[in-house]
Amino acid sequence: MLTLPNSFPTAVDVLVNEAMQIDGWTTPRELRFLALLAACPTTPGAVLEIGSYRGRSTTLLARANQLVSSNAIVAVDHLLQEGACEAFQETMRTAGVEHLVEFHQMMSWELALGWDRPLRLLWIDGNHSYESTHRDLASFAPSLADGAIVAIDDVLNRYEGSLRVFLEDILLSPHFGAAGVCGSIGWAQFHADSREARGYHRENLKLYRRLSPLVPLVAFDCYPSGWDKLRYRLLRSRVPRRMPAWSDWMLHVCGPFSRHSESVNGSCSSRAR
Ligand SMILES: C[S@@+](CC[C@H](N)C(=O)[O-])C[C@H]1O[C@@H](n2cnc3c(N)ncnc32)[C@H](O)[C@@H]1O
Repeated sequence: MLTLPNSFPTAVDVLVNEAMQIDGWTTPRELRFLALLAACPTTPGAVLEIGSYRGRSTTLLARANQLVSSNAIVAVDHLLQEGACEAFQETMRTAGVEHLVEFHQMMSWELALGWDRPLRLLWIDGNHSYESTHRDLASFAPSLADGAIVAIDDVLNRYEGSLRVFLEDILLSPHFGAAGVCGSIGWAQFHADSREARGYHRENLKLYRRLSPLVPLVAFDCYPSGWDKLRYRLLRSRVPRRMPAWSDWMLHVCGPFSRHSESVNGSCSSRAR
């Protein structure tokens, strides 16, 4: 059953406002969506963030996860730049979330080497090159719990890597079901048994067709300019990327094709499996 804690509607604005005080790029709309993902577990497991920078999304995920779990979230960032680690730790202290975050200062693939916990939410916001994003997903994919959510940042921000990995490794994968874009975050639900995802494939191909014309405009990490920039903006405007209503998102994830959730707050139990 998918449920949101009763405190979520009032807590979410506070969490987003708090996160927006922290340096970073993740927008209020994206933070709201991440809060929904963290506070609405689709399956048991850990929450893992790849790429923390100053801790904007880290803080929000930690607090939203705390609404439903006593476990800390896990975050990994190499924080190689001078002073970056101190700045991150200062954010954690000031926000009072140190005990809610298990932080690893290392490369994401180093963490993956010893990783043995099932994941319910994998948030990928590290290096946006194709190789790194592909590796981040591939390294942790074996740990995705059945029904887990994968979210990748910047699929609509002129990064070839994020966009291609979302298109090729997620929307074209038979193992991903409910999927969408919110702001610039591409997300999808993983199913160990691909038959559980089959009913979503037509919809995912529709999204693929909307997104894929953007690839030639950002390929080889070129930044579109002139007419290409206009074309990019026009094509991007055709991609649905609003913040979904919470209940709509929950119905999408526990839709008629999924066996994972039989109700949304007890209200969609009559939906066919
Ligand atoms: C876009 S920022 C993350 C922003 C953050 N999620 C937020 O909401 O403000 C990307 C971060 O990923 C880190 N990073 C890039 N590649 C990485 C990798 N392979 N392993 C760990 N961290 C990485 C960088 O150090 C940087 O701090």
